[in-house]
Amino acid sequence: MQPPFLLPDALARDIAARFGTPAYVYSQAALEQQAAEALAFPVAYGLTVRFAMKALPNASILRLLDRLGLHFDASSGFEATRAILAGIAPGKISLSTQEFPVDFARLQQAGIAVNACSLAQLDAIGRLFPGTPVGVRFNPGKGSGGTGKTNVGGPDASFGIWHEYATEVRKCAEKHGLKITRIHTHIGSGSDPLIWQQTSHLSLALARLFPDVDTLNLGGGYKVARVSSEKGTDLQRVGAPVREAFEEIARETGRKLRLEIEPGTFLVANCGVLLARAQDITDTGAGGRHFLKLDTGMTELLRPSLYGAQHPVTLIPSKPGISGPQRDYVVVGHCCESGDLVSCASGKPEIIATHRFPEAHIGDLCQIGGAGAYCASMSAKNYNSFPEAPEILLLSNNTPQLIRRRQTLAQIMQNEIRAAD
Ligand code: LLP
Repeated sequence: MQPPFLLPDALARDIAARFGTPAYVYSQAALEQQAAEALAFPVAYGLTVRFAMKALPNASILRLLDRLGLHFDASSGFEATRAILAGIAPGKISLSTQEFPVDFARLQQAGIAVNACSLAQLDAIGRLFPGTPVGVRFNPGKGSGGTGKTNVGGPDASFGIWHEYATEVRKCAEKHGLKITRIHTHIGSGSDPLIWQQTSHLSLALARLFPDVDTLNLGGGYKVARVSSEKGTDLQRVGAPVREAFEEIARETGRKLRLEIEPGTFLVANCGVLLARAQDITDTGAGGRHFLKLDTGMTELLRPSLYGAQHPVTLIPSKPGISGPQRDYVVVGHCCESGDLVSCASGKPEIIATHRFPEAHIGDLCQIGGAGAYCASMSAKNYNSFPEAPEILLLSNNTPQLIRRRQTLAQIMQNEIRAAD
């Protein structure tokens, strides 16, 4: 598990000069290392690692991870189609969605795999494609997330079929001749490794109930440490007892289950930075605060405002070599929202915290680490009419390659239709 990737100052200045700010920059070398770690997950009888593409769906990233041997988890019909358009073979895509796609038949015929995430979805699949193999997402009865907002298991979560409804699942499958070949559970993001292990056993118990199941997908959710106060999940440690449980089932029943995991965060979070510029510096007088105002914010990085998520922030002075006294800054975004905070207390999006830097100046660069997952893909896009930032892939040879252009104002407005005055 690597610490967050950060750009060396000179390269950050070079990229900012060439592509402007704000801009996302992803490291190919870091992505390769994380993919290798995920592919080394302890396993008894075969492993498929699916990238939860909702974390970072840019086509160049998908293609890179595809070349490294990863498969994909899509969370909507649009995402599945997006992966296919990016060049991913449909057979490598699995769909687990909250909203059953209107074009499901087309996706199924293209060859994607699907997990029914509700009894209504299972019935719809059965009506459309009786007699086919299908996966089922269960809510195993327990969940765990880094915050309450990222916990997707247990009685308060709507995700998957409640674990006590296995009989209803069986009846529905029998009605349509469906063969349940895969069980899927995902309990949350940033989950407690111990609870993940416990729920893995609950998921295995569900797999035992369905004799045709050959694959168990245990979802994603593995923590990474974006800041030093956080502790990342050691995949080797978390996976070892689960491998033993797979072996135990094989000894008892002869069934050798394949394991699937589908991390998003683990694969990409610490592989990207958001490069921004200090566009203003203000203060609220003696006893007040100093504010470093960036040319980015919730328009590119929603996680602090949404979850109270912590991201490392470093200052890159525009004049190298000059560094003044240290000062505590509240780092804020460019939106007209008091909640557009980069510096907030852990888990408390409304509480202001500070970052300590050498005295900052307008024009200095800032890089925000841990910005590879759920940043470009999950932002308050176009709020205050700020155009979407470009994405850049830093190739292994340190060449920055533009993989998404900066949006224009015309593109923001392109679908508007003027009503008659
Ligand atoms: N599988 C399923 C079915 C999921 O819903 C998710 C994430 C994943 C896998 C990947 O989880 P990960 O390994 O990335 O934790 N936006 C949040 C996290 C919530 C993601 C929702 N589902 C964040 O910024 O941390």
